Amino acid sequence: MTTVVCPGSFDPITLGHLDVVRRATTMFDDVVVGVAKNPGKSGLLDLETRAGLVRAALESADEPGLARVRVAVVPGLLVDFCREIGAVAVVKGLRGGGDFDAEQPMALMNRHLSGVETIFLPGDQRYAHVASSLVKDIVRHGGPVDDLVPAGVTEALRAALGQPAAGS
Ligand code: PNS
Repeated sequence: MTTVVCPGSFDPITLGHLDVVRRATTMFDDVVVGVAKNPGKSGLLDLETRAGLVRAALESADEPGLARVRVAVVPGLLVDFCREIGAVAVVKGLRGGGDFDAEQPMALMNRHLSGVETIFLPGDQRYAHVASSLVKDIVRHGGPVDDLVPAGVTEALRAALGQPAAGS
């Protein structure tokens, strides 16, 4: 069995993230989504809420590949998590050059620390503009994001922002 980790902040998960995880399941038989803190980003949702939204998205996707994906919070260094679960590689999606610039140092550092390799998947063009930070900003200002995120995410963001639930 080959285990890989799809790590990220997932604050919140988007359809772009879900597409990368789905594509990872077509190549690897054991895929673990690792929800982790990025010190460079100020988080909105707590890690357990983010992980819960990822689990709900995987369950409601109704795809056999996604149903076998596991989700865990990464408590410390990603490389320690990879070692603990026996993951041979990290899989990350890249929307473009900006993502590569951010990801390359982390990939090199993770390999330096532990030898774990990073596999980059080009993001699907349908989601090239979709970013968790933009999703949060749109919701903060009352805009629509339901076609950018899995079910339940918009409500979780509204709750975290102290906004009333839709329709109330
Ligand atoms: O979705 P993101 O914000 O691009 O994901 C970045 C993330 C969370 C995967 C990265 O910050 C991370 O691996 N954090 C865990 C702590 C860690 O290992 N830091 C050293 C990275 S070289």
